[in-house]
Amino acid sequence: MTGTAQHRVTLAFSDGVEHEMAVDPGGSVLEAGLAAGLPLLHQCRSGSCSSCLATLVEGEAATLPGCSSSLLASERAAGQRLLCVTGASSDCRFALPYDSKVGENRAVEGHAFVNAVERVAADVMRLELELAEDCWFEFRPGQFIQIKVPGTDQTRSYSIASTPAELPKIELLIRLLPGGVMSEWLLGQAAVDTALEISGPYGAFFLQEASKAPVVMIAGGTGLAPMMAMIDVIRARPGRKPPIHLSFGCQSAEGLFHGEAIALRSMWLPSLTVTTSVDRGPAPDGVRIGNPVEAVGADGPLDPETVAYLCGPPGMIEAARRHLQALGVAPGNIHAEQFVAS
Ligand code: FES
Repeated sequence: MTGTAQHRVTLAFSDGVEHEMAVDPGGSVLEAGLAAGLPLLHQCRSGSCSSCLATLVEGEAATLPGCSSSLLASERAAGQRLLCVTGASSDCRFALPYDSKVGENRAVEGHAFVNAVERVAADVMRLELELAEDCWFEFRPGQFIQIKVPGTDQTRSYSIASTPAELPKIELLIRLLPGGVMSEWLLGQAAVDTALEISGPYGAFFLQEASKAPVVMIAGGTGLAPMMAMIDVIRARPGRKPPIHLSFGCQSAEGLFHGEAIALRSMWLPSLTVTTSVDRGPAPDGVRIGNPVEAVGADGPLDPETVAYLCGPPGMIEAARRHLQALGVAPGNIHAEQFVAS
């Protein structure tokens, strides 16, 4: 219930900037914030994309009647809310997982050309795009873009696997789904120089660049994409690099991809350790059988300051949250992007 009274809501950005505003009964915190001119990340405005994620740290705030949220039960229990479908039930305060500058990277709509398309595993395509002149944007490693599937009115969201330094080139890793409209286009019609309608960047899942704490990354399938971008950005930044454990998992050996790219990064970045898992055997040399979640913490406890990034299907995210919290990682240091198959 959101009640019938107007409430005061404070939004605290990670750089210490705060704004207080009134939220009307029945209204969402996101709409009130945008009306007040705040740089709040958002995209779908319907509780499905998780771009507007924030953590309730004081007061009460519930999902508005008639709305639904894609958050997992464990995420809600950790105080997370999607501001586009959340109303204030009392005066309350939210912590935003990004600084007050991020929202200034407004999403744009434009075009990109196909540079390359290649199959890198039984069910994964690598798509390289080049932004056209009408489409320039900045993004943070971990964010995603949307592509309109040619010949349809449907859009699909994909995390960017390349870094901002590589713009105007963008690399995507796309899972092939039986009967999926994007999958069919990629397999049947995608060709170099095809123009695509795209928009972005979106999402509140991105590298916490100010943090120097140890990093754990758990990636299921094409959930590897944002991790590649984040690893490359950490590698390029000056100074001592934090220990990073990347735990990457696929269902079977046929689904594995980017082994060489990952091995190269391990060579370039000595603080990076990698565990690769397949759910079922047979497993190639150096690959364990099991899920990528269990592989984290197997060698001992984690540093309590650890910052974790999770990207994959909802079941993996839920299991990883529980596992990491049991290993002592603070809920606020666990950042996740769920893949929901279209
Ligand atoms: S804007 Fe997409 S979940 Fe809120």
